[in-house]
Amino acid sequence: MAIDLILGLQWGDEGKGKIVDVLTDNYDIIARFQGGPNAGHTLEFDGKKHVLHTIPSGIFHPNSLNLIGNGVVIDPISLKSEIDSLVPYKIDFSKKLLISKKAHLILPTHKILDAASEEAKGKSKIGSTLKGIGPTYMDKTGRNGIRVGDILSKNWKTKYLKLTKKHLGILKSYNLTKKYDLNLNENVFFKSIEKLRKLQLIDSEQFLMNSKKNGMKILGEGAQGSLLDVDFGTYPFVTSSTTTAAGACIGLGVAPNQIGEVFGIFKAYSTRVGSGPFPTELFNSEGTIMAKVGNEYGSTTGRARRCGWIDLVSLKYSVNINGVTKLMMMKGDVLSGFKKIKICTSYLINGIEIDYFPYDTNTDNLKPIYKELPGWDEDLTSITKFSDLPKNFVKYISFLENALEVPIEIVSVGPDRKQTIFK
Ligand code: GDP
Ligand code: IMO
Ligand code: MG
Repeated sequence: MAIDLILGLQWGDEGKGKIVDVLTDNYDIIARFQGGPNAGHTLEFDGKKHVLHTIPSGIFHPNSLNLIGNGVVIDPISLKSEIDSLVPYKIDFSKKLLISKKAHLILPTHKILDAASEEAKGKSKIGSTLKGIGPTYMDKTGRNGIRVGDILSKNWKTKYLKLTKKHLGILKSYNLTKKYDLNLNENVFFKSIEKLRKLQLIDSEQFLMNSKKNGMKILGEGAQGSLLDVDFGTYPFVTSSTTTAAGACIGLGVAPNQIGEVFGIFKAYSTRVGSGPFPTELFNSEGTIMAKVGNEYGSTTGRARRCGWIDLVSLKYSVNINGVTKLMMMKGDVLSGFKKIKICTSYLINGIEIDYFPYDTNTDNLKPIYKELPGWDEDLTSITKFSDLPKNFVKYISFLENALEVPIEIVSVGPDRKQTIFK
């Protein structure tokens, strides 16, 4: 049986957490394949909102197993506080949460290095979440990292001290004005390592292989979005992992021919948090309305998200790179009340029109070209049937489906689990 994937097609925060939660009833295992606590995946049900950072979004379902794959980078402090915050839900983490021994650990010094790197970049900073993601993946590919499995060996502290020392050396090489707190709060870190040690630390690729053989259904949960992919995103304003479908092969140990459905999620408009090019960004009242109605504040950092119209050029690119088989459109409700809905269909770069996502999307030289469709006034948030959706909203959906050549199977009209329409 193949493994299905859910991944974001824009710059993250498309609503992956909500949809994974909605779909978990159909799966036995939810497996996160990349990223780390830079992610903030929001779920809402029974009038409560939950933001998950490292724990997969299937955790609230009684029968689901939730795996943190080898491609994820784990901050033990952040993971412990996430687990602690879920105590009222009586989730048995020792049974429901599985962690790959091959996942890499984020150390306190990785977070300091992240902050120092951003400071050194000055105006051209990435806008990192400062969770230590870049430095941890650098240590992974530089073959210096510490893996979850290492904490099971007696000499792991020697490894920790060696790497920390190296980090402090690197920090000295920066010409920084800001003072960093080098009091590493090691007590908190080591306590959280103790907590991690008590969880099920496994050879997760083997576990997935066996589960698959036994007929269990597996859903891979991506973090971030395709335009933040380290290769295909708006480099260097990207994250440090492979956020596209290939990242699931690497981050779970699943062969490409074992991937089944690839569910691509996008918002009915665009948002971006942090720096970097954003061709359809709005600086007018339309953008302000999207931000306000859509409550566009980062789930991890609380920063305001930049907003703009939907961008079909980049969406087509994401659909192709990921091999998306089904689309899910989120937050259509936010666009109610706009007289006209704009859809970017091509870019004008230095006077030349192009309809593909190029090497450089620096917005100084780029002008988005829009098609306009009529808007709708109806409130969508309590609609439960596709046939009850306003005519102009359905026209918008059909236009996008035709352009992207992939069906939109789910339309989300609010943050709650129940505000989900299956076509
Ligand atoms: P993720 O990182 O992809 O899981 O997305 P986030 O959780 O960071 O951001 C999505 C935000 O939109 C969250 O606050 C969700 O509760 C909210 N949300 C999800 N779907 C909808 C929707 O259809 N309508 C509205 N209004 N909000 C939604
Ligand atoms: P989810 O999974 C939106 C952005 C940061 C920054 C850049 C690099 O919730 O969709 P990093 O901390 O990785 O060094 O930051 O990537 N970013 C996200 N933006 N959603 C996310 O995750 C993000 N994770 C990282 O804002 O611009
Ligand atoms: Mg998010």
